[in-house]
Amino acid sequence: MTVSVFAPASIGNVTVGFDVLGLAVQPVDGSLLGDVVSVEASDSDRLDVIGNFANKLPSEPSDNIVWHCLQLFNQALAEQKAAQKAAQGHTIQSVRLTLDKKMPVGSGLGSSACSVVAALEALNAFYDKPFSPEQMLAMMGQMEAQISGSLHYDNVAPCYFGGLQLMIADPAIITRTLPSFEDCYFVMAYPGIEVSTKAAREVLPNEYSKADAIAFGQTLAGFVDACYRQDKQQAFGHFKDVLAEPYRESLLPGFVEAKAHLQSAGCLAVGISGSGPTLFAVTDDKALADNAATWLQENYLSTELGFVHVCKADTQGARCL
Ligand code: HSE
Repeated sequence: MTVSVFAPASIGNVTVGFDVLGLAVQPVDGSLLGDVVSVEASDSDRLDVIGNFANKLPSEPSDNIVWHCLQLFNQALAEQKAAQKAAQGHTIQSVRLTLDKKMPVGSGLGSSACSVVAALEALNAFYDKPFSPEQMLAMMGQMEAQISGSLHYDNVAPCYFGGLQLMIADPAIITRTLPSFEDCYFVMAYPGIEVSTKAAREVLPNEYSKADAIAFGQTLAGFVDACYRQDKQQAFGHFKDVLAEPYRESLLPGFVEAKAHLQSAGCLAVGISGSGPTLFAVTDDKALADNAATWLQENYLSTELGFVHVCKADTQGARCL
């Protein structure tokens, strides 16, 4: 039996919610923007990496985050079995993992979250779901923190649960699903260069002014309120990032010009996806989304690895294929 799980790309921060808001996205043309991990029984543990971006990952399988996911999962299984103090519980099996690395690393599309979520969810499905969604999300956060150097759920939570997720400062909850704007298109443009999340976090100040703290709170609160009322004008009319975008713009060649162009073309909002360099533009007009995609293809991509996808919110999250 082989279990394969797909985990979708996501927009971390969604501009107004640094580290606390994330949205899963899927291309409207039906292509899979995300990673796939397959698990099958084997004589010994092994990891094979295939896919367009396989060559961007460490050549040693034990340096791959998917391998670390397997170790964490096995350790959690062993602890669960010990806690049950009985013959019940799962016996750890040797497995062959295959990571189909479809996502570019350091893209701002939640690439590491895609690998982590797909790997852990595939293992959980392989063992017939020994862990609850809450336990799974905690493990996913732990793995994401290992890669990016800080614990933030704004990619793993939407990647796992789908939709628009708001992080809650209660470890028993972690995340809540917000109503997303399902008639909106999110045009995602990955320029083909790499920006590490670690590096993009290091450019941020350690302290912010009182004015920025107030602006952040008010903007995020206004956005959440607008989601519940499905008020696009309020949601995107005040779509401003005071915490990260001003400091990260300089890491993204052409971002300022692209944002100005797309806003003047009528997009509702434009922002940095996660820590960049992917840019996203929001519109509820399909023709405008297609035009924005063409413009970005011609003006924002800087290497042959770049791509543009017209997406909508992915409300399903990680799923078995
Ligand atoms: N919230 C994280 C950051 C997302 O902006 O650093 C990383 O993709």
